[in-house]
Amino acid sequence: MSIPGNLFARKLDSPLPVAEKAKGVWIEDTNGRRYLDASGGAVVVNVGHGRDEIARAVYDQILRCHYAHPTMFTTSVVEDLSSALARHTPTGLDRFYFLSGGSEAVETAIKMARQIHLASKRPERIRLISRWKSYHGLTLGALSAMGRTSFRTPYAPLLSEVVHIPPPYCLRCSYGLTYPECGIRCATALDETIQNVGAETVSAFLAETISGGTLAAYPPPDEYFSIIRKICDQYNVLLILDEVMCGMGRTGRWFACQHYDVIPDIITLGKGLSGGTLALSAVGVRSIHFETICDGSGIFVHGGTFSHHPVAAAAGLAVIKILEQEGLVERASQYGELLGNKLKERLGGLSCVSDIRGIGLMWGVELVKDKDTNTPFPRHEKVVECVWDTLFEKGIITYKSTGLAGTDGDALIIAPPFIIKKDEIDFLVDNLGSALEETIG
Ligand SMILES: Cc1ncc(COP(=O)(O)O)c(C=O)c1O
Repeated sequence: MSIPGNLFARKLDSPLPVAEKAKGVWIEDTNGRRYLDASGGAVVVNVGHGRDEIARAVYDQILRCHYAHPTMFTTSVVEDLSSALARHTPTGLDRFYFLSGGSEAVETAIKMARQIHLASKRPERIRLISRWKSYHGLTLGALSAMGRTSFRTPYAPLLSEVVHIPPPYCLRCSYGLTYPECGIRCATALDETIQNVGAETVSAFLAETISGGTLAAYPPPDEYFSIIRKICDQYNVLLILDEVMCGMGRTGRWFACQHYDVIPDIITLGKGLSGGTLALSAVGVRSIHFETICDGSGIFVHGGTFSHHPVAAAAGLAVIKILEQEGLVERASQYGELLGNKLKERLGGLSCVSDIRGIGLMWGVELVKDKDTNTPFPRHEKVVECVWDTLFEKGIITYKSTGLAGTDGDALIIAPPFIIKKDEIDFLVDNLGSALEETIG
């Protein structure tokens, strides 16, 4: 039986509550129930709900100029947003192309890499290498790159060829090795794979800097990205870092790559870029590559009606001003440590929790059937869904990850807005503990 109404909703088996208003870290539904948004939706609401400054900036921009086609005009707000981003991105990564969502940013990055090679007279470089258990979005190009099997399988016949290598996921190392004796085998796998497919055919390697949607906030070993960067340089393969989830201050640095001193050739941003207020994403590219495109083909056949959108850019610019003025990136680092310690203290002893990991205000709590053997729950038991429902009943919103162990595996992502207060962290962690005890035991 379907749900009444005309909406093709995101949940098809039961009606969703109706969100009525939201402020700070709280959402209220039409029944007056309040929920602490402990994951900022899908790790999106970085600066909190209902920010006045963003609303005013968007309102003003609509009245000033709400649309001018991006092939016909630029706007000062889009120029200003680019400069604001360039103030914080690693040196040299300072040209930005704006779009409306993370998947679209990933599609754009893949095409941009190809365009850089075309402009450099390397037309044979067509292949993309990415990682298993990654999350890059659900449009066909991004889904082809993504490594979450349950999302890929139904559409597998429609996907294009992307070569996948194992992720840095020491908890379940694909090689059965242990860090650090492993020699970071998952990073040297890139070298081997490039050689196997033919270095002259490889365009780019795409990876999330911090594994997010599938591996639930799993940071790589410290050395991982310096090895990856060297391999990419050696073979002239472009490095695309997907920071749609982990960028924009979420990890306690403006960009997660800054934790590892690695500068990608291309970076993708989304989600927190507008704090979830409007559909906005971006692709940042190193200026040397931008110059190559300008001097080479002089054209990037891409874009779209809503690219470089001034109103979305006004939201993005307002978010960056809030982050700067309120020191929220530093706050994400401080409060992230607090949240991480509390999660470990309250949940570390539970027999169903195998691992609590994270960085800044991006944390993952992995759930297992047997902690000693790290055996996951079978997926059909839908354990994380049950825990999520219990938490939702208690008025706490988290984000689910599945498919961490083959097609099994469950985890929760905790990633609240950067403005969360200490007593709200206590409330969240206490309820998380009781929800796990009540649901799994
Ligand atoms: C790392 C990463 N890339 C891309 C995407 C896709 O973004 P969107 O859902 O805005 O298309 C996501 C979404 O979760 C993501 O986490």
